[in-house]
Amino acid sequence: MSMMRCYLVLFLSLAAVTAYTFSPSERHYGSQVLRITPQNEADLEWLRDFERNYENALDFWQGPTRLLNRGVDVWVPKSMIRQIRELLLENEMQFNVMIPDVQGVIDEQFTKMAGRTRPSTLADFDYSVYHPYDEIRQWVLDMATDHRDIVSEFLVTESYEGREMRAIKISVKPNAAKKSIWFEGGIHAREWISPATVMYIANQLVTDYKSGDQRVVKILESWDVFIVPSLNVDGYAYTWATERMWRKTRSLNPDFGCVGTDANRNWPYKWGGDGASPWACSNTYRGETALSEVEMKAITSYALARTKEQEIRIFIDWHSYAQLWLAPWSYDDAVELPPESPDQLKAAQAGVDAQFAVHAFEYIAGPSARILYEASGASNDWGFGGLGAKYSYVMELRDTGEYGFLLPEDQIIPCGEENYAATLALAEYVLDNDF
Ligand code: ARG
Ligand code: ZN
Repeated sequence: MSMMRCYLVLFLSLAAVTAYTFSPSERHYGSQVLRITPQNEADLEWLRDFERNYENALDFWQGPTRLLNRGVDVWVPKSMIRQIRELLLENEMQFNVMIPDVQGVIDEQFTKMAGRTRPSTLADFDYSVYHPYDEIRQWVLDMATDHRDIVSEFLVTESYEGREMRAIKISVKPNAAKKSIWFEGGIHAREWISPATVMYIANQLVTDYKSGDQRVVKILESWDVFIVPSLNVDGYAYTWATERMWRKTRSLNPDFGCVGTDANRNWPYKWGGDGASPWACSNTYRGETALSEVEMKAITSYALARTKEQEIRIFIDWHSYAQLWLAPWSYDDAVELPPESPDQLKAAQAGVDAQFAVHAFEYIAGPSARILYEASGASNDWGFGGLGAKYSYVMELRDTGEYGFLLPEDQIIPCGEENYAATLALAEYVLDNDF
């Protein structure tokens, strides 16, 4: 082999190992997301029927909510666009095209990422872009190595497909009076802004603590912080490799042949009620039993063990999209709210105000079944009712339906900033009022 060719081969193989080769193989040419805006209660009622009738054929990115001014976002394959538009027109629903070409947006975003190289050190880790799962896992290891004085890492479990689900704990000087905060990201695979935001928050806490920021010093001297950046690791990997819009886990349901359980309908508190499907092919499939998913079994037993050692008082499961703080209860919109509800909502409101102060993005706080929709076996109910964390929420991040799950990378940092502010405000609020 000539010297020249030898170099060429070397160069090509180096490029092959360092640059991304991602591009999901499922394609959705010509598909659109339509946004339907209910004008009154009757429209909402119609939309609930519409969802019931079409939930197996269409992907409701945002189902009908209790918030009248929020739209219903439905992803329609090319082959059904004409039929669905006609149905909406016949029923005098107001709608517009939210995303005219879903595949176009996916392609554009993956093209932008193609050819990127893996960060080789933690200092190289770019918080303003999305990262494939391997890099998130490496980030956990690197956080613990580079900040070993205050960060430790642990293996929660191996996933169904054998990936390591890892997490960090931020803990400054031992203090008997500390309590814990629990953040978990990525329970829904396609909600990429969730892992990105919790990693941003973790890095900011560590950085600001080390530079002596007095607010953060005080917070971390009172709170240990657990962060699981990516809970549904198989699903997340699948969104990079195969289907960008995947939501569920990747476990096979033997009875039906459909893959995946909605991990956020699989928590062992009020499991199997309304707002969760018994049908394995549904996007909100509750699973064969509560905790049928190995990831869920591991995360719940890990959190329960931690709260026995040191109370987990704040629990947030991070999602997108809708810009909402969802407090208990999730499983039923008619059940009486817990006596703790006013405190939960006041604390959330402190967070909402902090979020708004950063970039004027409006979030709304409320009890989830009443402001959004019912969902049984959901995280915030378990965080409160099962784990005993008084301040337990599902956080729905940006946006409110411009890009939806396909939130562009240039919003990662702003979203991180407002939610870092919210984290500090919430931690301080509870510290000052109810510690
Ligand atoms: N979007 C979240 C999900 O579908 C919300 C769950 C929170 N609970 C609720 N009742 N909406 O998992
Ligand atoms: Zn979600």
